[in-house]
Amino acid sequence: MLAFIGQRGTLWWHAHVLWLRVTVHGAIVNLPKLGVPYLFPKPNKEVVLVLGEWWKSDTKAVINQAQKLGQAPNVSDAYTINGNPGPIANCLANVTSGSREKYILKIVNDALNEELFFRIANHNLTVVGVDVVYVKPFTTDTILIAPGQTTNAIITTTQKVGKYLVAVSPFMDAQIGVDNLTTTGSLHYSGVVASTVTNLVSLSPQNSTKVANNFINSLKSLNSAKYPAKVPLTVDHSFFFFTIGLGINPCKTCVNDNRVVADTNNITFVMPKTALLQAHYFNISGGFTDDFPSKPLMPYNYTGIQPKNFATNKGNFNPNKDPKTFNLVVPVERNTVGVPTGGWTAIRFRADNPGVWFMHCHLEVHTTWGLKMAFVVDNGKGPLESVILPPSDLLKC
Ligand SMILES: *[C@@H]1O[C@H](CO)[C@@H](O)[C@H](O)[C@H]1NC(C)=O
Ligand SMILES: *[C@@H]1O[C@H](CO)[C@@H](O)[C@H](O)[C@H]1NC(C)=O
Ligand SMILES: *[C@@H]1O[C@H](CO)[C@@H](O)[C@H](O)[C@H]1NC(C)=O
Ligand SMILES: *[C@@H]1O[C@H](CO)[C@@H](O)[C@H](O)[C@H]1NC(C)=O
Ligand SMILES: *[C@@H]1O[C@H](CO)[C@@H](O)[C@H](O)[C@H]1NC(C)=O
Ligand SMILES: *[C@@H]1O[C@H](CO)[C@@H](O)[C@H](O)[C@H]1NC(C)=O
Ligand SMILES: *[C@@H]1O[C@H](CO)[C@@H](O)[C@H](O)[C@H]1NC(C)=O
Ligand SMILES: *[C@@H]1O[C@H](CO)[C@@H](O)[C@H](O)[C@H]1NC(C)=O
Repeated sequence: MLAFIGQRGTLWWHAHVLWLRVTVHGAIVNLPKLGVPYLFPKPNKEVVLVLGEWWKSDTKAVINQAQKLGQAPNVSDAYTINGNPGPIANCLANVTSGSREKYILKIVNDALNEELFFRIANHNLTVVGVDVVYVKPFTTDTILIAPGQTTNAIITTTQKVGKYLVAVSPFMDAQIGVDNLTTTGSLHYSGVVASTVTNLVSLSPQNSTKVANNFINSLKSLNSAKYPAKVPLTVDHSFFFFTIGLGINPCKTCVNDNRVVADTNNITFVMPKTALLQAHYFNISGGFTDDFPSKPLMPYNYTGIQPKNFATNKGNFNPNKDPKTFNLVVPVERNTVGVPTGGWTAIRFRADNPGVWFMHCHLEVHTTWGLKMAFVVDNGKGPLESVILPPSDLLKC
């Protein structure tokens, strides 16, 4: 048994080597402490739904081929819900009909490269938590979930005894190739007979920016006395301004004499030979450099559409105007945040955990292309604010 302090909700564990996380992953369900109730009526049952992506080929071959050619990797051949790429005779969950029957869905997006829409026929979803925080509950018919994120949502099974489609499909509003398939499963009410026809639902089109924004804008932290939002109201180091994007590097052996790369402030991450934490802890020179530019080297000018929003927006960030629109009262605390295509996201964090921390894109293809960097958080005062000694059996190579 593991006890999490100050965190509640669902976490996602995953491999971080090559594309192995495609199958090496799962959910860590973090229940309230014994005797501490949920903030909502206790659900009758909890259902963990891990959404994933599936390739006919070995994913290692897929990414290796892409890297060799310098091109984008093949998109997946299907999405999965709990490992199933399509409807199965069995169902995802059996539920009972009744106005007091509540089920909590713990949804994890483990897809490698796609943000996903999630919906259930004839059922609204009340979102109560994301990652490991409670949120101000809100009702929606569609959940948007990015790779690495988790969402806890409650459904009430007040519908007629029947079968209800559960559907998952991608959200992508840029002109790039995605796996555009939908995968489905079903929810069965007890008493349903095998021949019952499933109630269907259609998902929003792939480019539904509005549906995606509606969901993102509905997320507010609970900010109650017991679960305050703890927003850092002042900042010591304002504006690390990171532009993330794709580019091309010359590559003589690639198809078009160049390869696709991804960068942060025009710097593409190259995997080091020595682990960054080791290099930092043991003062190994040459392990990494600490001259990462805190802003882009040239003005970044993206010209796009500009829907109104608060701390996530399309178009160029305006350092004079946009900070005034930041939500400093009830922003949601997450470990993964979506950055809109051609847009920006502003985040604040407390550097209260010494060590070396990766900040990277959770679309695995971008991470492979180098969209990653690391923060070194120096030791503070005393042992509680210092990196602990490495274990005595730390591997030497
Ligand atoms: C990627 O897709 C192309 C075109 O469909 C196919 O020829 C190739 O074999 C695929 N690569 C892998 C590794 O499956
Ligand atoms: C749902 O109920 C059926 C019939 O009792 C059973 O075979 C099946 O395993 C159940 N499915 C789940 C996901 O619990
Ligand atoms: C879902 O919520 C919307 C908006 O509150 C409402 O109009 C709709 O009837 C609800 N649907 C179901 C199935 O409860
Ligand atoms: C899905 O993608 C495939 C392959 O790129 C394309 O042929 C097909 O038209 C797309 N389907 C839809 C509904 O966009
Ligand atoms: C979404 O895609 C459809 C089909 O490709 C297109 O007709 C429509 O204009 C697009 N909508 C937006 C908002 O881009
Ligand atoms: C980005 O990096 C490339 C390769 O190092 C360099 O040629 C280019 O001038 C840089 N661009 C900017 C805007 O700094
Ligand atoms: C690394 O350098 C710092 C600062 O010079 C020093 O305090 C620390 O003891 C060194 N660590 C090791 C493991 O040598
Ligand atoms: C950004 O690009 C647009 C369109 O090319 C141009 O009109 C505008 O002046 C540019 N802004 C900056 C700050 O360079």
